[in-house]
Amino acid sequence: MKQMTEQNMINAFGGESMANMRYRHFAIQAEKENFPNVARLFNAIAHAEFIHAGDHYRELKHLEGGFLANSMGAFGPGDTSKNLGLAIDGENFEVTEMYPTYMEVADFQGEKSAYRSFDWSYKTEKQHLALYQKAKEAVDGGKDVELDTIQVCSVCGYTLEGEAPDNCPVCQAKKDKFVAYE
Ligand SMILES: [Fe+2]
Ligand SMILES: [Fe+2]
Repeated sequence: MKQMTEQNMINAFGGESMANMRYRHFAIQAEKENFPNVARLFNAIAHAEFIHAGDHYRELKHLEGGFLANSMGAFGPGDTSKNLGLAIDGENFEVTEMYPTYMEVADFQGEKSAYRSFDWSYKTEKQHLALYQKAKEAVDGGKDVELDTIQVCSVCGYTLEGEAPDNCPVCQAKKDKFVAYE
């Protein structure tokens, strides 16, 4: 793997790993504030970030030893409204800066498999951003968010609200690959 793409993949693994951890803690805080649907959303999206991190990790299976990851981390947790703001900031960074740039570099370097891993995350984070925005609006109005079943594709992490589709729109995995959070 070319060096720039490889470092970007290491960074992306770091970013997804930290997002997974933050969201699991944010879910606990949301439970405490009696926002069960927001907690469910955090847990579902944490699972998607776990899938992304795993996909990136497998792209790096040729490496051995320790490497520095340079990743965006959102610090300063607070109540659920603030945590949703941090989550929105993180997803927004991934959608508007990080993944589009990493995809450009991977494309330029002819790294097709790496490109696919970045693209799967990119398409998913857009959904995460929209779901978190909806949740923040509800919480800022003093209510839990109204939320149907959240489905997470266990192959690419793609996340959607409602019924699982016959095939994942991002990776084409079959319906039974979706994990439901209800
Ligand atoms: Fe995400
Ligand atoms: Fe998928």
